Amino acid sequence: MSSVLHTEICDLLGCRYPIIQTGMGWVATPPLVAGVCEAGAFGFLAAATLKPDAVGDEIDKVKALTDKPFGVNFLMDAPGADVITHTIIEKGVKAAGYNRAPSAELINLLKEAGVVCVPTCGAPKHAAKAEKLGADIIVVQGGEGGGHTGPIPTSLLVPACAEGVDVPIVAAGGFKDGRGLVAALAWGAKGIAMGTRFVLTRESPVPTPTTDRFLAADVPDVIVTTRIDGLPQRVVRNELVDWLEGANPITLLFRSLGSALAFRKSSGASIAELIQSAFRLQKNERLTRSQVLMAANAPMLAKKAMTDGDPVHGYLPGGSVAGVITDRPTCAELIERIMEEAERTLKSLGA
Ligand SMILES: Cc1cc2nc3c(=O)[nH]c(=O)nc-3n(C[C@H](O)[C@H](O)[C@H](O)COP(=O)(O)O)c2cc1C
Repeated sequence: MSSVLHTEICDLLGCRYPIIQTGMGWVATPPLVAGVCEAGAFGFLAAATLKPDAVGDEIDKVKALTDKPFGVNFLMDAPGADVITHTIIEKGVKAAGYNRAPSAELINLLKEAGVVCVPTCGAPKHAAKAEKLGADIIVVQGGEGGGHTGPIPTSLLVPACAEGVDVPIVAAGGFKDGRGLVAALAWGAKGIAMGTRFVLTRESPVPTPTTDRFLAADVPDVIVTTRIDGLPQRVVRNELVDWLEGANPITLLFRSLGSALAFRKSSGASIAELIQSAFRLQKNERLTRSQVLMAANAPMLAKKAMTDGDPVHGYLPGGSVAGVITDRPTCAELIERIMEEAERTLKSLGA
């Protein structure tokens, strides 16, 4: 393998290739994380959609499937973030991923325990702040990325962040192949992070009716909506999103309350904790009250599509890249293909 393709990311995370599978709620489950790690990349288990006291068992499930290092991704402003932080430390997890509202206190605990801190940012000023708070690696996600996303395209965000911070950055938002990996390295990143591409692998738990919607999408079918939780989210357009875009605010409010109560059951959070988390979100993201209520919508609506296999009534977080992906390889096939194409691309450039 070309030495250009062995970067600081590989050394910091203990993986063979500079490729990260991001923490995707309901999707980044133990079989996917283990499949990614066994294939030589680095996977993050998604904890944002787990009960905090269930995270330890899920970590054990990954460990039962692979002895390779992996990470856990969670929301630092959600109820139980402290419990998840302690579990990560106790279980000796290699890396912690986080984004919204990073907590200096929790980051310090992770760093003291030697956990590699890997926040995700969508703007150069957020990357600079994340570095100050102690990030070891920063994933920078451009607007093409799936799920919550920002307005800056990947091609502009990555070079700006590479120049703006000293810690290694990893490019996310729109990656799927070896050409993309080489482009990211040229922009100054030390690797790529992918979400949507891993949704469409054999190890992904997403049921076929939903993955078929991803595979059938063209690039213009992957849109940004604020109607799911008040924040811009990139999704594969479907019946639910069309309905939400046309629905009136009162209908949205009632739907959000229903979803909040359902998520309370599934996450184990108390009503007081949910309200506290909603107010923190409001403060951090400067949301209106009705947006805060809509935020309660997201997890349960995503579960409907991504776990229950209902792509009509749930929503499908997905990046623009869904519009050009047409297959569902295993993680090993995918990673091998990416690395081979990266090698060929470097050779064709005379590198
Ligand atoms: C199905 C799906 C679920 C996601 N869930 C989360 C999440 O729970 N937490 C998070 O920080 N990011 C989440 N994201 C964003 C990804 O972690 C990642 O940043 C993004 O997918 C990268 O862009 P790409 O989809 O173009 O590869 C999600 C993305 C997708 C596609």
